[in-house]
Amino acid sequence: MSIVSPWKQDFPVFNADAYPNLCYLDSAATCLTPKRVADAMYNYQCYSHANSHKGLYYLSANVTEKVEYARTRIAEFLGASSLNEIVFTSGTTESLNLVAYSYIETKITSKSNIIISAAEHHANLLPWQRLCQQYGASLRVAPLNDHGIIDFSQLVTLIDSDTLLIAISQSANVIGKFNPIKQICQYARQNNIITVIDGAQAVSHGNINVDDLECDFYAFSGHKLYGPTGCGVLYCRMGLIEQMRPYQVGGGIIDNVSYQSSHYLTGPLKFESGSHNVVSIIGLLAALDYLNDISWQAINAYLERLSGYMQKRLAELNFIHPIVRSGDSAPYLYSFQMNKVHCHDVASMLDIEGIAVRAGHHCAQPLHKTLGINASVRVSLGLYNDHTDIDRLITGLTNTYQLLKIE
Ligand SMILES: Cc1ncc(COP(=O)(O)O)c(C=O)c1O
Repeated sequence: MSIVSPWKQDFPVFNADAYPNLCYLDSAATCLTPKRVADAMYNYQCYSHANSHKGLYYLSANVTEKVEYARTRIAEFLGASSLNEIVFTSGTTESLNLVAYSYIETKITSKSNIIISAAEHHANLLPWQRLCQQYGASLRVAPLNDHGIIDFSQLVTLIDSDTLLIAISQSANVIGKFNPIKQICQYARQNNIITVIDGAQAVSHGNINVDDLECDFYAFSGHKLYGPTGCGVLYCRMGLIEQMRPYQVGGGIIDNVSYQSSHYLTGPLKFESGSHNVVSIIGLLAALDYLNDISWQAINAYLERLSGYMQKRLAELNFIHPIVRSGDSAPYLYSFQMNKVHCHDVASMLDIEGIAVRAGHHCAQPLHKTLGINASVRVSLGLYNDHTDIDRLITGLTNTYQLLKIE
């Protein structure tokens, strides 16, 4: 079958002398960078760099305008009702910690409970675990069903009148399937429970509408959206942002300071102390433009087709076992184990052939323990992959098994 990416040529790394014949199958860790994004960052840094929100001179005012324009565009992308609901952070991890310490910490008591799912990345576990430990609250874990998604009916049984927060991923990073987050968020809202959605993995599939989802917070990282590292986003529903305090304080977030006290700005700027990571924000904006120009429909249709091919080819290998039931698998991601061969050995052997996959616990140790394993190999797709990558993967896995299986 011939599935050829029309976008591969947009990614300069495939012409890099240092990585000839790169087969990159780790987009769930980070997406490669299109030239358009790198160019936008280079041009900004060389020809229009200044500090934002501070200078009154033209160069600086122009940068402020760019940052605020990016905020508007991200609000549109997420379906937010206002740019004032969009906070720039350094990534999903910071976004989730921001919710924890700017808001949840002001509400939590020893009676509270917080619900997460069994599949969460450590970034969407540790902040809640630490808060619960600190305040004597309890952390409850919603199980997954046989298909590897959050079991709504089981989750509901964990909820009681002391449930403060439900923090779950739209699509988890080891299983990759889409959770019923709309159903969960709507139920939570009817019961006055706050919801945080970790969108780190789902964001590269677009079609997000936070209003429709009825979530309170939505977090993602720029580098999972073909943008740069160092920049992320937290959507905070209007009405909540006013109740939140900055968890990190410093320059740029006040309207009045004396030696005795400070009065913070209202809106997202109160969480953005210090200098903005403008070059990364410019890169994220360029990534959004790039993806919009391709169209989400084309992106998802392509990845679905390629994923179908990947699932089919992997299913032919009887020495490979998906970590959750396959069949209705994620449109872009597949985690598995190989009979009698350690996951790290699989990844190292593939690397010799120029194939980059992830192996280990993928920052989801509790999930692996729940599944009775300690590691898995994860293959994940991006816009640049095509059928030759899958064919090379299949050959690489077959060779690895032949060479390393212990009789
Ligand atoms: C589901 C999920 N949540 C959170 C994160 C953390 O993202 P970052 O390292 O960009 O903060 C990741 C990163 O892989 C992830 O996959």
